Amino acid sequence: MTRKACVIGWPISHSRSPLIHGYWLKRYGIAGSYERLPVKPEELSAFFSSLMANGLAGCNVTLPHKEAAFRAVRTADAATARLSVVNTVFARDGELWGTSTDGEGFLASLAAGHPGWRAAGQSVVILGAGGATRALVGALLDAGAGRIFIANRTRAKAEELKRDFGCRAEPHDWAEASDLLRHADLVINTTSLGMTGQPALEIDLGNLPNTALVTDIVYTPLETDLLKRAEARGNPIVPGLGMLLHQAVRGFELWFGTRPEVTDDLYDLVARDIDPGYRR
Ligand code: ATR
Repeated sequence: MTRKACVIGWPISHSRSPLIHGYWLKRYGIAGSYERLPVKPEELSAFFSSLMANGLAGCNVTLPHKEAAFRAVRTADAATARLSVVNTVFARDGELWGTSTDGEGFLASLAAGHPGWRAAGQSVVILGAGGATRALVGALLDAGAGRIFIANRTRAKAEELKRDFGCRAEPHDWAEASDLLRHADLVINTTSLGMTGQPALEIDLGNLPNTALVTDIVYTPLETDLLKRAEARGNPIVPGLGMLLHQAVRGFELWFGTRPEVTDDLYDLVARDIDPGYRR
């Protein structure tokens, strides 16, 4: 039987998920398909109602559907219940279930990109408090991180994270970002700053201990200015592309029954799709 999955979003043309899942289907010799499917917000409910009848094993969900999908399906785990968003939907026993794989993808990317890295007891500075931040805060706290300092332009959104995740998540003003870096074992940019076409992330790294690991969830460009500057002063870095690849692992396993590996080969394939001039 050919298993089918897809990624839904509006718009969806930019998604690299078909490249990732297509690579794994071929690599593991699985008779399956993974397509891009544009779904408008007003079509979402009909899409889910007919998902199983259309022979789909499930789907990835991207903007703007992550919250609506959470409400439309059963929540598969407690970590996802706290996030109120899903990025992965799968059919089981005649019902649709949803989960968020961003947190585990983020942790797996750090473990792969910086072997030996552990969240336990680490102080983390997070820049930004947008949609992507919640999954990271949840995963880091579940993995035993110590204090998480969150600096955001709209402070109220950082306050919300404290309300939802407890006082180990500390809200701060954006203006405090550079100063907070002195506490960091790990720094994560979750803002859109530094992304191709967006304004630069202007932050002074002078206070940052040079042992601190620096990562960015932005992966266009593959190495953001933040990562370049951190690397130039001797800090270890993990680029954002790893998270995109690792968050895809559980969906593939749920739909196609094989837990796939994130290999250098896959990394290079997707990196070259983003930047044809990429060299390992
Ligand atoms: P979401 O992920 O919730 O859709 P987003 O618009 O993609 O949000 O923005 C992601 C993050 O980038 C947010 O933390 C946002 O800050 P606000 O919460 O204040 O909007 C941050 N961000 C975007 N542009 C920014 C800028 N020019 N300066 C500082 N932070 C910025």
